[in-house]
Amino acid sequence: MKKHVKNNVYWLGKVDWELRKFHGEELSTHKGSSYNSYLIQEEKNVLIDTVWAPFAEDFVDNLAKEIDLDKIDFIVANHGEIDHSGALPALMKRIPDKPIYCTANAVKSLKGQYHSDWNFKIVKTGDKISIGNGKELIFLEMQMLHWPDSMATYLTGDNILFSNDAFGQHLATEQLFNDKVDQCDLFYESLKYYANILTPYSAMLRKKLSEITALNLPIEIIATSHGVIWRDNPMQIVEKYAQWANDYRENQISIIYDTMWNGTKLLAEKIAEGIKSVDTDVVVKIYNISKCDYNDLISEVFKSKTVVMGSPTINNSILHSVAGFIYLIKELKFKGKKAAAFGCYGWSGESVKIITQLMAEAGFEVMEDSFKNQWNPDVDAQKAAVEFGKNIAKY
Ligand code: FEO
Repeated sequence: MKKHVKNNVYWLGKVDWELRKFHGEELSTHKGSSYNSYLIQEEKNVLIDTVWAPFAEDFVDNLAKEIDLDKIDFIVANHGEIDHSGALPALMKRIPDKPIYCTANAVKSLKGQYHSDWNFKIVKTGDKISIGNGKELIFLEMQMLHWPDSMATYLTGDNILFSNDAFGQHLATEQLFNDKVDQCDLFYESLKYYANILTPYSAMLRKKLSEITALNLPIEIIATSHGVIWRDNPMQIVEKYAQWANDYRENQISIIYDTMWNGTKLLAEKIAEGIKSVDTDVVVKIYNISKCDYNDLISEVFKSKTVVMGSPTINNSILHSVAGFIYLIKELKFKGKKAAAFGCYGWSGESVKIITQLMAEAGFEVMEDSFKNQWNPDVDAQKAAVEFGKNIAKY
């Protein structure tokens, strides 16, 4: 059933309460998600985006209950990724000749995924189309936010920015608007979404935010494609994005490790003790990678000014959990963060050298001193780990 957004604009997406993993198994979505589609019913009837493929048939059936499908004048595909375009094949079977407005790159992604030559109308930033009653849609390319084909669409008169993935959250809710949901959930999921999906594109995002601001379009509502619609002070999420896109860090040091026989774990605790002994303001958090959700942990890395990474040595190397997590960090191209390495070993002791190298390759400024300890830390080694923590606090 459609839900009213504003004037002649309606939501008719899918709330996916069950979703726990997104992008295959890559991204945890503890609170589900939604795929938001919008129907604008002015003199022209316009559908903006659809839903993920498993919900395609239901989506088209529901849409047909709300409007005679033949009365849809055109579709806007802001982004070709399957969570928003997944119902296009089912819909286009019913209305095969209707135009689909999208970017040139979206034609590539839609053709590449669905192998159908629909009636594409390519648009670029600044292109406009009248939908009657004095209202227009203005298209804004949003390259790399987060795909090369991404676009936003602005509705004049109602002053709604249909932003697609940007400003979204993986948050299932029957409430449509940002002022109606738990604010902790909302901002936790918004930050996690940014940290895990948008961090690599922060430089492009900064530029895009400036471009949007320069257009001077009044924005009363930001209608995203995941989670809630921002109607209460919608610019608050734009301001958050401006902060997050600017090499974001809080006064936080995260100690992230894995351990085999708890020696490296004990070092983590002692390092934390050292940091806290010289800096009572800094937030210190300790995480065992193997007991954490990787994507939640990425949110902690995102908030950290320094990441202290630990692994024991195994097979002349490091635990695969640590290696895999550093690889994920590297993909996300964090900027302006520091790191340090530590770990226990029994025989050869290569782990700290390897962590130092990997964290440097991931773009972190790595402290020259690292801390390694042979066998389980005795009292002296524990004291030395505390001293190492003090040095990290001053680094
Ligand atoms: Fe990039 Fe929500 O899809």
